[in-house]
Amino acid sequence: MTDQAPRPEGDIPGKPTAASRTTLSHIMTGSDTNLLGTVHGGVIMKLVDDAAGAVAGRHSGGPAVTASMDEMVFLEPVRVGDLVHVRAQVNWTGRSSMEVGVRVMAERWNESTPAQQVGSAYLVFAAVDADGRPRPVPQVIPETERDKRRYQEAQIRRTHRLARRRAIKELREKRAADGIED
Ligand SMILES: CC(C)(COP(=O)(O)OP(=O)(O)OC[C@H]1O[C@@H](n2cnc3c(N)ncnc32)[C@H](O)[C@@H]1OP(=O)(O)O)[C@@H](O)C(=O)NCCC(=O)NCCS
Repeated sequence: MTDQAPRPEGDIPGKPTAASRTTLSHIMTGSDTNLLGTVHGGVIMKLVDDAAGAVAGRHSGGPAVTASMDEMVFLEPVRVGDLVHVRAQVNWTGRSSMEVGVRVMAERWNESTPAQQVGSAYLVFAAVDADGRPRPVPQVIPETERDKRRYQEAQIRRTHRLARRRAIKELREKRAADGIED
């Protein structure tokens, strides 16, 4: 995992955020519930990963794998009979990675009340070649002010992810060098 995301020589043309933005919709049924009778968080997480994966594949023009999912937030319980909409877009791109932001909305399937936000998450996908090795992605071009804000916020998350990984790696190396076993 690298600090910088230098653009490759002979750069790939960029793509606007809107080109790959996607919504995945799904009605929740009895088979989606947990022991409390509401929808299992893992069902929502799979929909989030599915929608984000579609966006990452569309943006990068080929296969992309989930590298991480963070800040998955569940704001409200989702119920059987809810029509869930999972909206995803590329917030930020590095050399071979993309941060995809996902917003989860729910509305009753047979009522005309507005959909309510029930969750959100940020996922990092890496575009890969046929051998599973990271490959370069087109740079995302944020167009609206909202897209630009999301790009800037994603850059902050990227910096923090790298710093956290580096700090933990250094701590483990230091403990190992001190002969501490756990
Ligand atoms: C993700 C994966 C391809 C990264 O491979 P790698 O050899 O570590 O390659 P790199 O270190 O060059 O990382 C590639 C990019 O992913 C990013 N990345 C890798 N691991 C990451 C993590 N845990 N969190 C955030 N970003 C990560 C790197 O920062 C890098 O971004 P950049 O090219 O934009 O700078 C590899 O770890 C993998 O195949 N993981 C399994 C994926 C999978 O099976 N997912 C579930 C099913 S889809």
